[in-house]
Amino acid sequence: MCYAIPGKIVELKGKIAVIDYFGEHKNALNEFVNAQVGDYVYAQGGILVDKIDEDDAIPILSFWKDRFAELKKIDNKISKIETSKPKNEFEEIIQKAQQGNLLQKQEALTLLKTNEPEKLKLLYKTANSLRQKNLENACCVHGIIEFSNYCRNNCTYCGIRSDNKELKRYKMSPDEIVEAAVHAVKELGFKALVLQSGEDTSYTTKDLVAIIKKIKQQCGVLLSMSVGQRSQNCYKEMYDAGARGVLLRFETSNQELYKKFHKGPKANFQERIDLLKYLNKLGYIIATGSIIGFPNQTEEDILNDILLTKSLNAEMYSFGPLIPHPQTPLKNTELSDIDTILKVLAVSRFIDPNSKILVTTALETLDKDSGKQRGLLAGANSLMINVTPSRFRKQYTLYPGRPDRDKEITKNIEETLKLLYSLGRAPTDLGI
Ligand code: 5AD
Repeated sequence: MCYAIPGKIVELKGKIAVIDYFGEHKNALNEFVNAQVGDYVYAQGGILVDKIDEDDAIPILSFWKDRFAELKKIDNKISKIETSKPKNEFEEIIQKAQQGNLLQKQEALTLLKTNEPEKLKLLYKTANSLRQKNLENACCVHGIIEFSNYCRNNCTYCGIRSDNKELKRYKMSPDEIVEAAVHAVKELGFKALVLQSGEDTSYTTKDLVAIIKKIKQQCGVLLSMSVGQRSQNCYKEMYDAGARGVLLRFETSNQELYKKFHKGPKANFQERIDLLKYLNKLGYIIATGSIIGFPNQTEEDILNDILLTKSLNAEMYSFGPLIPHPQTPLKNTELSDIDTILKVLAVSRFIDPNSKILVTTALETLDKDSGKQRGLLAGANSLMINVTPSRFRKQYTLYPGRPDRDKEITKNIEETLKLLYSLGRAPTDLGI
């Protein structure tokens, strides 16, 4: 099993390697593996993460060659849309987006405020076709390891908030984290992993650095950290140790809402944004976004969330519904319907056509049977699979009802791949 397709380096331009994938050329940063022309490599998020021997690469490539073309054909068919003369203002906006034009704020708002089923169908289909046109059928599949549910913060919607005394807390030891990560790469085939936890400062910078170094020594993988508002120094050291991605949502761009729902020592909107900007400058690949469904959050707020994500130079957009957790102050919040989230994915695709847009596990929770598929058909092109060892997974309850809670990892991978193939998507990341 494999979530990235190897390619062959055909040229080096300074630090950039030009990689050939069945005749298509993509660029990636030649950072970790010191690759030479002629080498076979794996790239993730525009960075080379591993080399592979030619003898091992050839059979994988021959397996993929026909399958890749086949999948593309399926994707082309599913994502194709007929163009006709716009009949109303809504269709005019859709056509404008489809032709690759940037939308005005007011136009994007009109889309976010749409509720008619036929219009929504057209919106999703157009976002899907734009995804295909810009990025073809590559779908990024990250594994996520949730290594501690201790958190110093007390966000009013989050199940692992410090005030939740009913939660059984756990933290994986550094060795357990390294073991789970290496297993996910070597045994399960992941080339990109996210290490996530509550804001648990019992792991010092030194601990996190040691974990990253050990994982990077043992396997080639794009490592992203999702550990909250740690210090600039901590992030600098993690970068130097080999981490290259950060998943840190700003949660909402509306500062009043931010203040109202975020409590705890690190509940400061501006500090969070400043940190994201610093991380981008450091060279991290940024994944960020917000929660959809806060009480009194408006479509204007949501549009501002999308625009803020873009302005932070995010490579990956992460938007998901608020799922009310019974042991939090926001337990009685009304649950968003799935269209509210799908609209955000689709409009994000219009606003940043070349971005990676994630189907979040919260969206999968909202619609267990088809959340993933509906997200992927509304402009999304990235997934996360939970690879936390099962003995810990049940306690990582940011919100209730997660479908991956009791699912065996291999079964989840199998089902995800089946879904991707049925939609003509290749589980890979072909670089920039
Ligand atoms: N519903 C949806 N998402 C939540 N998160 C935390 N609690 C909830 C909830 N009840 C999200 C936050 C955080 C991410 C790790 O989980 O956005 O950034």
